[in-house]
Amino acid sequence: MRASIVGRLRAAGCVFAEDEADLLIAAAPTPDQLDDMVQRRASGLPLEHIVGWAEFCGLRIAVGPGVFVPRRRSEFLVGQAIAAARHSASTDGSWLVVDLCCGSGAVGVAVAAGLSSLGQVELYAADIEPAAVECARANVAPVGGTVYQGDLYDPLPPAIAGLVAVLVVNAPYVPTSEIAMMPPEARLHEPLVALDGGPDGVMIHRRVAAAAPDWLAPGGSLLIETSERQAPQTAAAMTAAGLNAVVSADEELDATVVIGTQVGVS
Ligand SMILES: C[S@@+](CC[C@H](N)C(=O)[O-])C[C@H]1O[C@@H](n2cnc3c(N)ncnc32)[C@H](O)[C@@H]1O
Repeated sequence: MRASIVGRLRAAGCVFAEDEADLLIAAAPTPDQLDDMVQRRASGLPLEHIVGWAEFCGLRIAVGPGVFVPRRRSEFLVGQAIAAARHSASTDGSWLVVDLCCGSGAVGVAVAAGLSSLGQVELYAADIEPAAVECARANVAPVGGTVYQGDLYDPLPPAIAGLVAVLVVNAPYVPTSEIAMMPPEARLHEPLVALDGGPDGVMIHRRVAAAAPDWLAPGGSLLIETSERQAPQTAAAMTAAGLNAVVSADEELDATVVIGTQVGVS
């Protein structure tokens, strides 16, 4: 049975057919459902949407249909956010963390999990898409965070303005004209609002950066995942907002993050 599933997946172009077959076999409650799951995978649905979860930073993150699948490269964003928190405004081992454009909530949950052995984390997350918000609520519950629905900062409680130690953001950053060139898995099965970063891909980064100083604590950091090519524009948006911007990259994960620190007493 396994060999035939591997064959079907391989014929459909799945590069990791053996690993995927094992995941599908483990996830399927019955042979009929397994057959249906293999069929859906062979027709191009993301594996994570079929099994209902994605592995991210060693955590199992629930991912429903229509919700952006967290990417391995965003683990670099998580690591940078944890490092920033450790060097941030907290003097009492507690951090207020905000995950904007949270999707499944994977990034915020992983940051909170990474900091949990070091102190207390208060996690706030927000997304504009109802499906993402519902999914993030399920993922965030175990770490005790709160998820809001709305445009960028709009739904956040005003009481946290000026108190955020770490503002972590993986917003859409694909330029509109390049979406047609994305792999079908993303282009056809993830919502456009999760991918489209506007004409140059940096539109949301500019909006996030412009308002960040109102939300960050002195010494707090805004971290935005971007591409190597777009990093100068993402950094320029942070500089224009008065943040001290630094670009950080990881070649192995093909990941780039711009870190903007609120200049002030920490
Ligand atoms: C690239 S996905 C990343 C999701 C998540 N941060 C992750 O890394 O898995 C971008 C997310 O931004 C959300 N989004 C797009 N525009 C938004 C806006 N104006 N306000 C809030 N969320 C937005 C989308 O719904 C999507 O969930």
